[in-house]
Amino acid sequence: MYRTIFAVAAIFTAGIMFAPAQNSNTVTSAPVLVPDTTHQNDPLPDGVLAFDATLKSVDATEGDDFARFTFSFTNVTPNIVTVLNVHPSCGCTTAELPPVPWQLIPGTNGQMKLTVNLAGKTGTVFKTVDFSTDKGKKQLMLRINLTPPPAIVMTEEQKAAGIAASKLDRQAVFKGDCASCHVKKVEGKFGQELFKSTCAICHEAANRATMVPDLANLKVPTTEAFWRTWITYGKPGSLMPSFAKSEGGPLDDIQIASLAQYLNTIHPSQAPPVGN
Ligand code: HEC
Ligand code: HEC
Repeated sequence: MYRTIFAVAAIFTAGIMFAPAQNSNTVTSAPVLVPDTTHQNDPLPDGVLAFDATLKSVDATEGDDFARFTFSFTNVTPNIVTVLNVHPSCGCTTAELPPVPWQLIPGTNGQMKLTVNLAGKTGTVFKTVDFSTDKGKKQLMLRINLTPPPAIVMTEEQKAAGIAASKLDRQAVFKGDCASCHVKKVEGKFGQELFKSTCAICHEAANRATMVPDLANLKVPTTEAFWRTWITYGKPGSLMPSFAKSEGGPLDDIQIASLAQYLNTIHPSQAPPVGN
């Protein structure tokens, strides 16, 4: 009992004795970095960051997933330059850099990686990225030159073999070697993009076989349901496969609905609806 009271008294005394020391500890703890944001929207003056380039171009093939860029910059001032934030012009572009605020010590070099998602993109694509620092903002430009993939050239023998295999099994295009040309990456694709990667190979080929119809000039009345039914089931006894997963094809219901909607829009019915 006595001992407890004594111990409490000792701690109490010690607390008073060391109080000034504790205060000085608090004062010397690391300062929190509060970056100066007053200049973040001003143009970045010359002679602050030396960029390896402010416009970069890459070549890519339509159907590629991503284009990648790396920008490199050196702090050429005698002071710290703080990177505050990075804003790409579209949600399709992502930036990879150390957490911001990111302090660039004088004379050091930093790097930022940018990745542009190319889904659905064709031709020449421009993107910009605003790179803001406490000394001002720089706009970086990205250019992607997309060219169509080279046309696939097939010998008459290869074509005959394809047609023969499809006559035995119209789902053959989804299997083995056939799939390498006929079913290129359908995951995550819808509408026009899916049409290009899945249907165009047969229906838009310049030298397609005569039994492959021109979808823009069908003689029968067409509706969204017409497209959906053809895509889902194809036609037994012909070379038109069934695309629905439930029928052994590669596409899910949402993808098929997106194709039906796309086709019904770009190829409105050329014939009057039945019953009119
Ligand atoms: C392997 C080649 C091939 C692929 C791939 C293919 N088709 Fe076909 N398609 C055909 C052939 C051949 C026919 C003709 C069937 C017949 O004999 O009536 C046809 C018929 C059709 C028809 C019926 C047109 C009419 O005459 O009424 C539609 C609609 C159609 N295809 C849509 C599509 C769509 C959409 C896709 C992509 C999901 C696709 N096809 C992919 C070969 C193909
Ligand atoms: C090297 C890529 C490639 C491979 C592999 C391939 N095809 Fe094709 N296929 C094509 C192209 C391209 C067309 C469009 C017609 C053309 O350009 O000759 C086509 C068209 C077709 C057609 C429509 C008829 C026509 O000639 O227009 C069928 C049916 C077909 N292929 C089935 C198959 C089957 C089955 C296999 C596997 C045994 C296969 N293909 C392998 C590229 C390929």
